[in-house]
This record gives sequence, C-alpha cells and structure tokens, in this order.
Amino acid sequence: MKKKVSLLMVIILVLSSLLVACVESKETDSGSENSEFESYSLEGIKNKGKLVMGTSADYPPFETHIMAEGKDQIVGFDIEIAKHIADELGVELEIKDMDFDKLLGGLSTGMLDIVIAGMNPNSEREKEANFTDIYYEANHSVLINKEDASKITTLEDLNGKSIGVQIGTTQEKFAQEKIEDADVKSLDANTNIVMNLKTKKIDCAIMELAVAESFANENDELMVVEDITIDIGSEGVAIAVKKGNDELTEKLNEILADAQSKGLLDEWFVEANELTD
Ligand code: ARG
Repeated sequence: MKKKVSLLMVIILVLSSLLVACVESKETDSGSENSEFESYSLEGIKNKGKLVMGTSADYPPFETHIMAEGKDQIVGFDIEIAKHIADELGVELEIKDMDFDKLLGGLSTGMLDIVIAGMNPNSEREKEANFTDIYYEANHSVLINKEDASKITTLEDLNGKSIGVQIGTTQEKFAQEKIEDADVKSLDANTNIVMNLKTKKIDCAIMELAVAESFANENDELMVVEDITIDIGSEGVAIAVKKGNDELTEKLNEILADAQSKGLLDEWFVEANELTD
C-alpha cells in the first residue's frame, strides 16, 4: 500500500513539473515575439509590418462600403488618411470594420493600433485613449424626411420626437441629455438609422453634417435641416490610439500636419464625397 502511494506521488510530481515546463515555454515564446516593443507602439507597428485600423464603415464620406469592380470595398476620407499613414510608416494597412462602440475597447486590448472613424475627442474618451490633433472640423445637423420639412425647422422642434442616433456616439449623448422628452433610438449603424427614417420608424436623426448631406444626396426623400446646427461639445474629429502611446500620437500629428500643409486632406475629402455619392 505504502509503495503504491509513493508511486502515485512520483507520477503526480513528474506530471506537474511537465505542466510547469509547458506553461513556461509558452510564456517565453510569446515574450520573444515582441520582446522590446508592444505591437501597437510605433516601433511595434514597423516591426510587424502592419497597421491595424479600426473603423465603423457606415459613415460616408468618412468610411463606407461600396461595390467597385464587383467587389465590396471600404472607402472614404478616413481610409485615405489611413492608407497615407501606412505608406509613411512603410507598412501594410489592415482595416477592421466594427461596431462604433467597440472601437476604443479594441485599442485598450491591443487588437487595434489606431481608430479612424470620424470620432470626436471629448474628456470622457480622453480617459480611455490618446487623441491626435483635429483633422476635420465637424458640425452636426439633423436629417429628416422631406415631407416633414415644415414640422422640423428648429432645435426645439426635436422635443418629444423619436430621434435616431448611433450607439456610443456624441450624438447619442446629445440627444439623451439635451433634447426634452426625446424618444432616443440608439442603433448600431448609421445605415440602419437611415432605413428607420425612410420607413418612418423614427422622426429624425442627428448626424455629422457631411454625413447627413451624404445620406441626403443618396436618398431623394431625405433632407438636412439647414437651420439647425448642433454643438456637441467637440471641435472636430481626430485619430485615437492606445492610452499612453505618445510616440505614435506625435508621429501621427506630424503626418497629419504635413498632409494638411500639402492640401492632401482637402483633396481626399472632396474625392471621398464624389466616391461615396
Ligand atoms: N462623431 C461621432 C462620435 O465621435 C460619431 C462617429 C461615428 N462614426 C462612425 N464611423 N460611424 O461619437
């Protein structure tokens, strides 16, 4: 009996030391992959040869899906910016199309290197991520059905209305906090908001002006309410990177400033409007 017990103990000991060895070797493996730099840092991105960009491609002219040459493609202003950044860094670009409200989480976990999604920096988001300088100054407006043109002409007319907004956006926050008795319908994508508007499930939608205009150009029955401008408390849109990733933020600011001074940003914005209409 004693012999059996000690044999069992020996077996257990051998097995458990094998297990420890396995775990240890796994740790050294992943450690050696990014021994010096985190993959999402400037050096890390160069080392892996790839820039992983997160976006929510439902937001023309910033990012949207189009069918071109028989293929589904993501195009737009933000995509041109991302391509240019990847070129400047000498790496490939990989685009991950996600729900807007999951983007900042993707930076924290290291799944994404950058987020370019027409995103407005604000104090809440700045706790979660680094932001570059503003690359586009945005205004916000209201999208409605043309037949409601006489019913919705001022911001006060939104009181008590059902308002479509994208989940996790500054527009959602505005509708919830600033419009009296609003019936806020938070939806996953702007394309879905437009569908709900066209089928009269909602009365209006709050969107970035350029985005509202783009949807109005695409859909004859829709229009932007010219006289309503909404101040959502942010000056424009910026690129987000992982919190504390200062070197990359600085590099992106240099690239943006250079593109701005060469007139490239303006050029890409015009092109994106043409392409997405
Ligand atoms: N500008 C708004 C925000 O930052 C909405 C952006 C939505 N972007 C998108 N790609 N769907 O919250």
